[in-house]
Amino acid sequence: MRNSALKSSVRTFASSSARSQAVPTEKPVLSKQFKIYRWNPDEPAKKPTLQTYNVDLNQCGPMILDALIKIKNEMDPTLTFRRSCREGICGSCAMNINGQNTLACLCRIDRDANKDTKIYPLPHMYIVKDLVPDLTLFYKQYKSIEPYLKNDNPPEGREHLQSPEDRRKLDGMYECILCACCSTSCPSYWWNQDEYLGPATLMAAYRWMADSRDTYGAQRKEKLQNELSLYRCHTIFNCARTCPKGLNPAAAIAKIKLELAAD
Ligand code: SF4
Ligand code: FES
Repeated sequence: MRNSALKSSVRTFASSSARSQAVPTEKPVLSKQFKIYRWNPDEPAKKPTLQTYNVDLNQCGPMILDALIKIKNEMDPTLTFRRSCREGICGSCAMNINGQNTLACLCRIDRDANKDTKIYPLPHMYIVKDLVPDLTLFYKQYKSIEPYLKNDNPPEGREHLQSPEDRRKLDGMYECILCACCSTSCPSYWWNQDEYLGPATLMAAYRWMADSRDTYGAQRKEKLQNELSLYRCHTIFNCARTCPKGLNPAAAIAKIKLELAAD
């Protein structure tokens, strides 16, 4: 009995002694350049610039948003960008990374330290500051399609039910997080955004047209029956290529066109 107690105390001593001698291994510095668009509304005469920051990737999380947060926290608190959920749900961190509109929190940092990473705000938008675009018009357009269920005779005192098949018709549309990556990648939207609604808003419009519980389909279609709101889409497909949620606004737009043609 006494022997086993002695052995156990020797083992404890041996392992804690080994621990105290362990030398922490530090990863070597893996420095990567991030070139980030800067523009400050308080200095309107100053042109936008690309500012370079060096980040040690071995001291940083794996995503572009991690690098931005590290830069803001440790190097430059004036760097401005939007973010909230850090998991592709809120849509706030949409920006143009190495030429592609995407979400910074879902975009992995390329660990090749010889290549820099260039980060711009979403293209063809007015800029509030640095990586923050002004989305006022985008949201106004979204509001214009009345993105909610409209039905003058909802069932009384019970749930408004939908069959599983009808519910499935909304798949691929209801998941949209309104990040605006698709609309701001669309040349038709760049040049006509005053009147063309753009892929995100048009897909939202179709999401309500396709909802079996909504009875305002005819009025919703009527609103799009003009030269610009819908028909400025020339099926370029940038929207479907860039959507970070893997959605296909171009397909929804094509379905609206088919429905309008059938009326
Ligand atoms: S369709 Fe995709 S890219 Fe467009 S707003 Fe929705 S989530 Fe963003
Ligand atoms: S922080 Fe919410 S989508 Fe990136």
